[in-house]
Amino acid sequence: MKEKNGAILVLGSLNVDVVTRVAHIPGPGETLLCQDYRFVPGGKGANQAAAIARLGGRVWLAGSVGRDFFGEFLKENLRQAGVDTRLVQEEKTATTGLALIMVDRQGENSIVVVGGANRKVGPHRVEGLLPYLRKASFLLLQLEIPLETVFQALLFARRLSLPVILDPGPARDLPQSIFPLISFILPNESETEKLLRVKITGIKSARQAARRLVQLGVKCAVVKLGAKGCVLASQGQTVHLPALSVKAVDTTAAGDVFAGAFALALAEGRESLSAAKFATVAAGLSVTRAGAQTSIPTRREVEALIRRKKIKL
Ligand code: ATP
Ligand code: RIB
Repeated sequence: MKEKNGAILVLGSLNVDVVTRVAHIPGPGETLLCQDYRFVPGGKGANQAAAIARLGGRVWLAGSVGRDFFGEFLKENLRQAGVDTRLVQEEKTATTGLALIMVDRQGENSIVVVGGANRKVGPHRVEGLLPYLRKASFLLLQLEIPLETVFQALLFARRLSLPVILDPGPARDLPQSIFPLISFILPNESETEKLLRVKITGIKSARQAARRLVQLGVKCAVVKLGAKGCVLASQGQTVHLPALSVKAVDTTAAGDVFAGAFALALAEGRESLSAAKFATVAAGLSVTRAGAQTSIPTRREVEALIRRKKIKL
């Protein structure tokens, strides 16, 4: 087997986010008048790759955009963040993925994702990633590309003994046979409910759910609880980590920053608990800023806050 080069391979989505701020999330049939909107680089795969790069890691992003202005805009932003985009393909027959995002006064959001070119990332793409899968230290996946592709990538990673981190968002039904193929799983509350068909009502039920995911075959489960932090379970421990106490401006992509920072910290050799502490600081900083990739902190900012708060990683 070839020597690993420490880089992380992210296989996932790229979206342009069309973001508007609203007084409240509208109900059915309701019309709201808003001031303006912004185009922000987003998409779960791209956000996670950008987080790894901005925090100082080496990362390849594999995915698809359309042959259009937004595709160029997203790739250029990623390159500026330090992401290697050579595996981002241009699709002739699809437009770049798009997310319509409303953010309310509490920083909570409501999102509609139009898959576009992300839907073209079929299982046939995985074989072409083999040279990168061989060199990568981790594979990071989410669920905004076809599920068959996610499964194909999991099978290739298993054959290569490459550890996989799965952020199972957006929430989708998954067969339980998937869990033994995953080393680290990072669901939020609603994704956990969908995966296990349980209700998450607080830290106690999150602890039970995280332990259940480990029983089902993952090595480590981190159930993310927004402002309540997260619960991490692995073979030896179940630990609750409180979130940073911050004023939330926009929680969009907090989970993506968490996933990117967690993957990077693991790739740098940290244990899962230490990686989750690092990720909690990075994600906490991101909710104080607007947008998806625009909210990702730098390594220097994360380390400064860790020092200031005297957090022991
Ligand atoms: P996303 O909004 O990207 O879909 P998610 O739903 O996957 O995120 P969350 O549980 O909302 O994930 O957030 C991930 C992590 O971000 C949390 O575990 C926490 O550390 C941090 N975080 C989220 N919201 C807040 C908040 N209001 N204050 C402080 N930290 C937060
Ligand atoms: O997780 C946040 C992301 O979800 C946004 O950037 C949006 O593109 C959707 O994919």
